[in-house]
Amino acid sequence: MPANPPGPAAPQDSPPAPRSAFENWISLSGTVVAAGSFFAFVFLFAIEAFTGDRNQYLGILTFVVAPIFLITGLLAILIGWLIHRRRIARCAPDTPRALLTIDLSRPRDRRNFIVFLGGAFLFLLLTAFGSYETFHYTESVQFCGTLCHTVMEPEHVAYQKGEHARVACVQCHVGGGAGYYLKSKISGARQLYALAFNTYNRPIPTPIHNLRPAQDTCEQCHWPERFTGSLERRYDHLLSDKTNSTTTVRLLLKVGGGGRGPENGIHWHMAKANKVEYYATDDKRQDIVWVRTTVGGGAGHVYRKADFKGEPPAAGIRTMDCVDCHTRPAHNYRNPNDLIEQSVRDGHIAAAQFPLLKRRVAAALSAEYASVPEAMEKISTALQTQYPASPAREAMIAEVQTLYRENFFPLMKANWKAYPNNIGHKNWPGCFRCHNDELLAGAAKPPITQNDCNSCHVILAQGQGAQLSQLAPEGVEFVHPGGETSGLLCSDCHNGTNQ
Ligand code: HEC
Ligand code: HEC
Ligand code: HEC
Ligand code: HEC
Ligand code: HEC
Ligand code: HEC
Repeated sequence: MPANPPGPAAPQDSPPAPRSAFENWISLSGTVVAAGSFFAFVFLFAIEAFTGDRNQYLGILTFVVAPIFLITGLLAILIGWLIHRRRIARCAPDTPRALLTIDLSRPRDRRNFIVFLGGAFLFLLLTAFGSYETFHYTESVQFCGTLCHTVMEPEHVAYQKGEHARVACVQCHVGGGAGYYLKSKISGARQLYALAFNTYNRPIPTPIHNLRPAQDTCEQCHWPERFTGSLERRYDHLLSDKTNSTTTVRLLLKVGGGGRGPENGIHWHMAKANKVEYYATDDKRQDIVWVRTTVGGGAGHVYRKADFKGEPPAAGIRTMDCVDCHTRPAHNYRNPNDLIEQSVRDGHIAAAQFPLLKRRVAAALSAEYASVPEAMEKISTALQTQYPASPAREAMIAEVQTLYRENFFPLMKANWKAYPNNIGHKNWPGCFRCHNDELLAGAAKPPITQNDCNSCHVILAQGQGAQLSQLAPEGVEFVHPGGETSGLLCSDCHNGTNQ
């Protein structure tokens, strides 16, 4: 048979059009996922931008979930391509590889090249923008405070009531710098695991051992050079007697500092040239048995309790910083006493109408409840049986319920008892952990003790009514409203509830 006359361009003779290695299921699925998530990102972003919606789930969808899918999709395209390319090379070794030749003098290549450049530019721009937004989102109060709602609820609620409600969580918990950002994300991943497998602690334990040193966080906004002078504070209390009588202490707290003038007063511990180190035998840092000072850059003293022999383990020695006193700058779960006293002071409850108010409300607030609804019901029942019906009673009960919801979190077991407040010395040992007669530096050196009640503060006035306007600048002796204290620590009797 005569051979077919060869045509001008016999199709079977030209090499078969090289199959693109992108044509495989993995890459194709990747393309669908990537394109889908890209549009989802744009769409969600538009919703957030145009509606001003601040829903936390929208944020996580836009800046965490969509980018994860986008990147997974792009990776799948690449992986599919790699696998398929190898397979083509193995099954048909003779198949010519598509060689990439770009000839910018060809209009088609020129057009493709421009499209490619434009696409790459857009992609990089979006990636930069996306990762910037993702970074910001994972640094937001919304992300830290509301995402795992139950777990962070106590911290978030108390935070909103504190002085730092406008300071982002990460400004204290992470601070600046890439290293700590990464560290916090790694620890965040661990927390996510604990959340998923329900292995997290209730309450979340403190002290936070890897909290960033306060020099890098607190001192970004409050720097010790700026601490000067004294602060006047007024502490209004109710007694647990029938008439809810009042008693007030006015103090001038010698906060002091190391800025202008000599380094003295309460912030003496934080002056640049001083260092206070300590060793506590318990995890909550309450039982301090050993203290070492560096004063003015030179040697200071070593104080120890008589029954603590030997040297503390080097890893257990902590250098005192802001959070050793300010343990609750942002999450102050208030105690029942303070809550009821403040409510009366602010005029939310007319104490005169409710005999024994302080005692009864403190008891209702400090009882153990398994959940908030249970607490609401039992608080209401208890107070209803104790006081005759009246509109004022219902308003009082509603106020007490609000106090509970804002300061007690039974699901996380978070409340004032779980977290020591080391400022002061009334309900927790606080300053008296070190300022006591037991930590001694040998016979020659007096103890850290400031047994003189006017050394950290001046008691300007105390009592009621007119007594409070007779100020004594040099300080008066404290008259304890509860009678003889028998040399006990204040916190041996006071614990925020009045038993
Ligand atoms: C002004 C600084 C500051 C801010 C702002 C802040 N925290 Fe804290 N946070 C602290 C300190 C200090 C502790 C206690 C550390 C310790 O005792 O070791 C703490 C403790 C915690 C704890 C441990 C449990 C507890 O209740 O003590 C969690 C959880 C926490 N913070 C979450 C958050 C979240 C979420 C936000 C934002 C809504 C936030 N924090 C904002 C300073 C801050
Ligand atoms: C991003 C800035 C910022 C950071 C970080 C920060 N604070 Fe503050 N702090 C503030 C602001 C703002 C106030 C409110 C001042 C006011 O209300 O007058 C405040 C108030 C306070 C107050 C109460 C002052 C008063 O007059 O009653 C204390 C105490 C305090 N901060 C301690 C801390 C401690 C401890 C840390 C670190 C754990 C910290 N702050 C971290 C900005 C910051
Ligand atoms: C020895 C305990 C102690 C240490 C350490 C300490 N503080 Fe204080 N600070 C106090 C006490 C007590 C007050 C009095 C106010 C009060 O009762 O809240 C106070 C008041 C403040 C105030 C409000 C008054 C003012 O002068 O503006 C700020 C802000 C503050 N501290 C920040 C800090 C920061 C930041 C650090 C760490 C660099 C720090 N403190 C370290 C005990 C301490
Ligand atoms: C970890 C131990 C420790 C804790 C906790 C502590 N201090 Fe001190 N404080 C010291 C030591 C040590 C000195 C130095 C004593 C000396 O040199 O005689 C000191 C000194 C002082 C001074 C005198 C500073 C001066 O002018 O010379 C004041 C005021 C003071 N502390 C207040 C407080 C207050 C208020 C608290 C609680 C909020 C507190 N301290 C908590 C260890 C501590
Ligand atoms: C080491 C420093 C220091 C010494 C010593 C000291 N205080 Fe205080 N005291 C404080 C600080 C700090 C506060 C403020 C606590 C706060 O802001 O909640 C305070 C608060 C008080 C209050 C008000 C508490 C309240 O809730 O009404 C009284 C009352 C008081 N001190 C009495 C005394 C008496 C009495 C002595 C002597 C036995 C004494 N203090 C010794 C640091 C000290
Ligand atoms: C032996 C136990 C005991 C000791 C120790 C003690 N108190 Fe009291 N305190 C009481 C009692 C009881 C009352 C009366 C409570 C009431 O009527 O609600 C009281 C009342 C008070 C009040 C007014 C009411 C209130 O609940 O705030 C203040 C302020 C106070 N004490 C401060 C202190 C200080 C500061 C110290 C340490 C220097 C101290 N107390 C040590 C038992 C004690």
